Amino acid sequence: MTHPCDLLITNVKIATMQDNGVPYGLIESGAVAVHNGKIVYVGESTKCRYKTNNIIDGSEYLLTPGLIDCHTHLVYGGDRAGEFEQRLQGVSYADIAKAGGGIKSTVKATREAGFDTLFNAAAKRATCLLKEGVTTVEIKSGYGLDLDTELKMLEVANGVGEYLGINVSTTYLGAHALPPEYQNNPDGYIDFVCSTVMPKVAEGQYATCVDVFCESIGFTPEQSQRVFEAAGKLGLKVKAHVEQLSDLKGAVLASQYNALSVDHVEFMNPSDVPSLTKSGTVAVLLPGAFYYLNETQKPPIDAFREHNVPMAVATDLNPGSSPMASLLTAMNMASVFFGLTPEEALAGATVNGAKALGLVTKGVIATGMDADMCLWDVSHPCELAYAINQHRPEQIWIGGKHVVV
Ligand code: NIG
Ligand code: FE
Repeated sequence: MTHPCDLLITNVKIATMQDNGVPYGLIESGAVAVHNGKIVYVGESTKCRYKTNNIIDGSEYLLTPGLIDCHTHLVYGGDRAGEFEQRLQGVSYADIAKAGGGIKSTVKATREAGFDTLFNAAAKRATCLLKEGVTTVEIKSGYGLDLDTELKMLEVANGVGEYLGINVSTTYLGAHALPPEYQNNPDGYIDFVCSTVMPKVAEGQYATCVDVFCESIGFTPEQSQRVFEAAGKLGLKVKAHVEQLSDLKGAVLASQYNALSVDHVEFMNPSDVPSLTKSGTVAVLLPGAFYYLNETQKPPIDAFREHNVPMAVATDLNPGSSPMASLLTAMNMASVFFGLTPEEALAGATVNGAKALGLVTKGVIATGMDADMCLWDVSHPCELAYAINQHRPEQIWIGGKHVVV
């Protein structure tokens, strides 16, 4: 007996990224059936009992889940190419920030930019990601810091998703830097974040997550904790920039609030890693920022492996520490700099990226999951992390719909 479906992809190798005991969850000669935007069959072609007129011959190419970039700041005004030049002359990222540059200079440019300017620039960056197979992208606010600009950034982010037909997951990052209005009053600013902005973000469903920059040039663990407390009361999920430049134990703190992810984590002490296992928190690796800041301290990868902490890989696309709109390059860097296997790198941009966003229907090719998939002209999935700027998907589907980029 056969069942009808909307789309049938046959004659493909499938990196399902399911944990089925085979590397990459690979199926050598497979088929995938899609109905109503969901995957209804994945397995051997010969055993598929689905039928449709809409059949795609996969030409023995490789099918993967759509890529997931789980950490970006791609909505912003202006650029920071001048700071790049300063850093090349030896001025540090932290010193630029302390002198009023860095995130604060992007805040000024973002406040001054109109909605359309922000939207067009953000759509262009998101298109670069989509062309490489990114079907889900997380986008943070955090360059407005006042109520109106933060909400404007989140509206732009959600609008870009609708415009491009790409899944966008939005995060409110009010505690990113101290705005000029609150100079010398960081606790007053945290009050404003928790009592004024977060309730509006939650009520208007502008974002599903809240993030903080817990760092000497950001906010203290105590201030971060107040944000986490408020998030819990409003039903917003927690993510955190921690241990990027120093070890303030932000990851342990975030894990106590069941954070979805802790991001950067270069300075995380291996002895703190078990706290993440307990809370099911994902370690998000951001090798683009590591590269641009010429960092030498590497995240505790062996401890993550030993304690079964899922590792995600993301671009951190932003104007300062990581102006890099390429998730495949981030995967390559995670392998070269941090020693991830190509399989771990692909898991970082698929199944573990989904976990870092709390998305339970994305990141693997399995029955019941959203039909977000890419078809690549490669003979083995390890090629995706191996090559730089050599691969673009031949085909992309989001929610079962074929996307033309
Ligand atoms: O993830 N660390 C804080 N936030 C961003 C940098 C933002 C910026 O420099 O504009 C990051 O690296
Ligand atoms: Fe970031």
